[in-house]
Amino acid sequence: MLKKLGIAVCASAMLTAGAIPAQAADKVADELEIFSWWAGDEGPALEALIDIHGKKFPKVDVVNATVTGGSGVNAKAVLKTRMLGGNPPDSFQVHAGQELIGTWVKADRMEDLTPLFEQEGWMDVFPEGLVKLIGTDDGIWSVPVNIHRSNVMWYVPDNLNKWGVRPPQNWEEFIEIAPKLKAQGVVPLALAQNWTANHLWESVALASLGAEKWDKLWTGELPFNSPEAVAAWDLFGKVLDYTNTDASSLSWQQATDMVVDGRAAFNVMGDWAAGYMSTTKKLKPGTGFGWVASPGTNGQFMFLADSFGLPKKSPNRDQAIEWLKILGSKDGSDAFNPLKGSISARTDSDLSKYNDYAKSASKDFSHDRIVGSLAHGVTANEGFMNDFATVMEMYLKTRNSDAAGKAMVSIAMKNKIGQ
Ligand code: GAL
Repeated sequence: MLKKLGIAVCASAMLTAGAIPAQAADKVADELEIFSWWAGDEGPALEALIDIHGKKFPKVDVVNATVTGGSGVNAKAVLKTRMLGGNPPDSFQVHAGQELIGTWVKADRMEDLTPLFEQEGWMDVFPEGLVKLIGTDDGIWSVPVNIHRSNVMWYVPDNLNKWGVRPPQNWEEFIEIAPKLKAQGVVPLALAQNWTANHLWESVALASLGAEKWDKLWTGELPFNSPEAVAAWDLFGKVLDYTNTDASSLSWQQATDMVVDGRAAFNVMGDWAAGYMSTTKKLKPGTGFGWVASPGTNGQFMFLADSFGLPKKSPNRDQAIEWLKILGSKDGSDAFNPLKGSISARTDSDLSKYNDYAKSASKDFSHDRIVGSLAHGVTANEGFMNDFATVMEMYLKTRNSDAAGKAMVSIAMKNKIGQ
């Protein structure tokens, strides 16, 4: 199996295998610090995992260290300071893909989890493609806890009926119906603080480029300043014309609230919005809220996966390993994901525990064309993402597509993307 995944198990990894012992409940440290950005409204799913841990290890004090801010905008900066200052948490949230590999693995800050994957039988339950994303030739570096979809458009069915519009199939259709919504005093598309502009951008770019060219942006086969890539910025600019002017002061939840409260018709957000609407707002999928693939991306599933890793020098390493075991387990996964809005990263999850949104996402994931998210760490490292946020700020002020394309060429070079 290891061979099939193309992951060479080096001698040191095998030595580490012996260092990941099965722990007896009374032989572990009495503290565990887990670090993430799942605070407040984003907390319930994480708490379900902490509850499982608490039942197994009642004597261990869990420090649930969270830094608020969607997509980890603030948490990642705090984590960086802690990691570089030699003060890592025991385990931390990180996106599968380049955010993990191109940032923390490259900096040699993570422990290889190959022995744990073997011991827990995870090589057979996590999809091969996903294991590749969290692995390198030298090891496997995190435990995936979910699969989220980035390219989803949300709405409230009754409100659309009232306003006489239907969910748009493509952005041209959206641009056609948007004035009709505006005329009724409704914001066509709710947007929040800047990272959500990055999030919207990736859905618009996927629609504009198609899956194949989207992939080629990240392998370097399609230049960021090519006419196709620049055209994606042009389309993005047209879409932005129909968003709220106070976007930069809103959280993603507040933009979702605009849709829920009937102040806006749509928003494009990852399916943690389904978790928020069903778990926090108690809305029923299908009637309380509806969804379609974001315009022009039907049949394409832009995915991301949250995962947790084990940093080198984790102060309570044994407990961190116990935590990771819960995360990767079937029970853990099926307790976490139904609350989170995501689907399990495991292939054997119990779908009867999931709501209608998750069931439809799971179906789409099984047959759609899968592409990786930029905004949530799959296609590029953190250095690129930070620089991309600056490009976005510049674009929001100037709406200059050519300049954005050129700037992306230089940040790709700087952060070694597509080389
Ligand atoms: C993503 C993360 C999701 C959710 C979202 C909003 O980056 O993968 O799990 O937390 O940010 O904060």
